[in-house]
Amino acid sequence: MEFRHLGRSGLMVSEISYGNWITHGSQVEEDAALACVRAALDSGITTFDTADVYAGTRAESVLGRALKGERREGLEIFTKVYWPTGPGRNDRGLSRKHIMESIDGSLRRLQTDHVDLYQAHRYDYSTPLEETMEAFADVVRSGKAHYIGVSEWKASQLREAHALARELRIPLISNQPQYSMLWRVIETEVIPASEELGIGQIVWSPMAQGVLSGKYLPGQPPPAGSRATDEKSGANFIARFLNDDVLTRVQRLKPLAEQAGLTMAQLAVAWVLQNPNVASAIVGASRPEQVHDNVTAAGVKLDADLLKAIDEIVEPVTERDPAKTESPAQRP
Ligand SMILES: NC(=O)c1ccc[n+]([C@@H]2O[C@H](COP(=O)([O-])OP(=O)(O)OC[C@H]3O[C@@H](n4cnc5c(N)ncnc54)[C@H](OP(=O)(O)O)[C@@H]3O)[C@@H](O)[C@H]2O)c1
Repeated sequence: MEFRHLGRSGLMVSEISYGNWITHGSQVEEDAALACVRAALDSGITTFDTADVYAGTRAESVLGRALKGERREGLEIFTKVYWPTGPGRNDRGLSRKHIMESIDGSLRRLQTDHVDLYQAHRYDYSTPLEETMEAFADVVRSGKAHYIGVSEWKASQLREAHALARELRIPLISNQPQYSMLWRVIETEVIPASEELGIGQIVWSPMAQGVLSGKYLPGQPPPAGSRATDEKSGANFIARFLNDDVLTRVQRLKPLAEQAGLTMAQLAVAWVLQNPNVASAIVGASRPEQVHDNVTAAGVKLDADLLKAIDEIVEPVTERDPAKTESPAQRP
């Protein structure tokens, strides 16, 4: 495993992190979840990402059980707040009330007294940013989180939050956006602003939820047991990539991966790590073999000709519109 600094901070993260959205407490049984976390630890992954909302809070509990007994100082545990965790009007968003209540719930479920990074899972247009940042400052000062991050915030929102974080003297060090060969929204504005501010990206769905592994074939039903067959939630999220144009182009990447001596999954994960503002790629997995496949992308360098050939194939189906990742106008 290789390690990078998260933004302009002293915190180091593994280039590949493990995330448990959709899988733990939902798509996969507990023993498979525990086996994936074991595989991640055995492969040198030290950074784990979850959120209060995943599987209706069950994903945090699974991760807490999976990491129990590990040396806490050897791990970086990240969670998030914003999406609804209960039926009430205040069980969501970035109000002081919800942040203070949600961090305590997350720590209880994760069985730890602090998280390394506490992230705003989206921007909350219904709460003054000052209120949110002051609540985060209290979370940091109480020792419940070491660093603060955000997820899918626009360049202008990052700038505003960064200025407040400086005033409050708390470390706002990361953004967590979707980023893959097929989803490149952050390249035009978010990455340049982040480089200027010292914010690093921890990117999600680097494999476009499994699509870039090449296992979904155009005109064919999805493979048994894959996310596209998970009617509980996965199928809905991956649907945006499952059309014949995307899938045909993904198949055209196969000879490029072979020439480079990589599996398709390694190529996809290595691709996001070529961007120096990306500190870590958060991969998901429903089986331990996938974790073993994906971690070998750490430290891989892709040459300029290969990157150009990839761009030529995927460009017509690449998403670049920032409107596609805008936070909800109203609290969900
Ligand atoms: N901040 C946010 O708003 C946000 C949103 C989404 C995700 N995230 C974070 O990002 C993490 C990763 O997201 P993701 O799960 O969509 O990432 P991903 O790595 O793009 O997709 C993971 C899925 O792809 C399939 N897969 C993985 N490795 C494979 C391999 N080697 N060969 C074939 N298939 C493979 C598995 O699904 P199947 O086996 O079921 O097909 C696996 O669950 C999440 O857990 C979460 O921590 C954050």
